[in-house]
Amino acid sequence: MSGLFQRLAQRPGPAVPFTIDGVAAEAKAGDLLIGAILLHRRALRRFEFGPGERAGWCLMGACQDCWVTLADGRRVRACTTLVEPGMAVVTGGVGG
Ligand code: FES
Repeated sequence: MSGLFQRLAQRPGPAVPFTIDGVAAEAKAGDLLIGAILLHRRALRRFEFGPGERAGWCLMGACQDCWVTLADGRRVRACTTLVEPGMAVVTGGVGG
């Protein structure tokens, strides 16, 4: 599965396991959730006002395009949230 983002440089630090729609994925400590997801997928979620998928836009907390749902019911802005071990992202199957 290829993602929308590509890591340009390896970063030190421990791996952070998390899941996307139940599929195991891995990020690095200190990665933002948007990067962690888009290294594996081409989108974050479905667009709620029409067809299509969304992958964030501003990457700085302003546009509100990157909200994602977690399995525990939380909704978080992926560009301002650090990935955490065991985080379970639910996209509804987008961006695969
Ligand atoms: S990408 Fe714009 S608020 Fe997250």
